[in-house]
Amino acid sequence: MRVFVITGAGVSAESGIPTFRGKGGYWRNLDPAKLATPEAFARDPKLVWEWYCERRQRIRNAQPNAAHEAITKLANHAAEFLLVTQNVDDLHARAGLRAEKIVQIHGDIFGTRCSRCGFKEHNEECEEIPRCPKCDALMRPGVVWFGEQLPWNELQRIENYLDRGACDLVIVAGTTATFGYIIDWALRARAPNGELIEVNPEATPLSEFATQRIRESAAVALPKIVDQVITS
Ligand code: APR
Repeated sequence: MRVFVITGAGVSAESGIPTFRGKGGYWRNLDPAKLATPEAFARDPKLVWEWYCERRQRIRNAQPNAAHEAITKLANHAAEFLLVTQNVDDLHARAGLRAEKIVQIHGDIFGTRCSRCGFKEHNEECEEIPRCPKCDALMRPGVVWFGEQLPWNELQRIENYLDRGACDLVIVAGTTATFGYIIDWALRARAPNGELIEVNPEATPLSEFATQRIRESAAVALPKIVDQVITS
């Protein structure tokens, strides 16, 4: 069986990580233009870093939930599997999903990269803003900010997986599918007689294309779906 899964912030919600646009979501109280753009970082790098450090700590204190574990179980069962997550947390990896099966399309919050030369390193320094060991410019969180390009290598990994054949099962869980590429990948992945299952308590722009809409939380729905797939 060939499987393709896309996840968003809703999958980490039951681990205590706020979503962006849902109830209590980050963007309900905070202005992304002040925190998640290159301009915001240029304007006030301290404010941006403090916010990412707070989020890193919150993720450090969180645990993967039953949704993350079910996705790992499905990956271990499927002949071919790829997860594209918009989440910058490491909960899928901490649920045992191998790195080669994960594409973090919006980056990794525990990564850092130079804001000038692009030098990358794994640096969880939060006392002060780290500086680039190569060019001494400020290091920034290794995430994709609004208005920025998606990482080329990660895009290639998705394209290569989709080019290698259609998928019997596509699951899209916990995302508002705000970005067109999320819907595009989901529709391109599904085989003509394949399933496209949306897991989300609320409707999204993807809902009309789904073959099944599960209006339940991810930690409740995904273990059931995966057990059904494995036993069928
Ligand atoms: N289980 C499943 N879905 C849930 C749950 C849950 N427990 N709780 C909330 N949801 C759903 C909400 O109904 C909403 O549709 O998850 C979705 C969360 O949507 P967003 O907050 O918009 O998060 P996401 O879709 O991942 O955002 C995409 O936007 O802000 C940028 O870069 C950021 O990666 C992020 C991207």
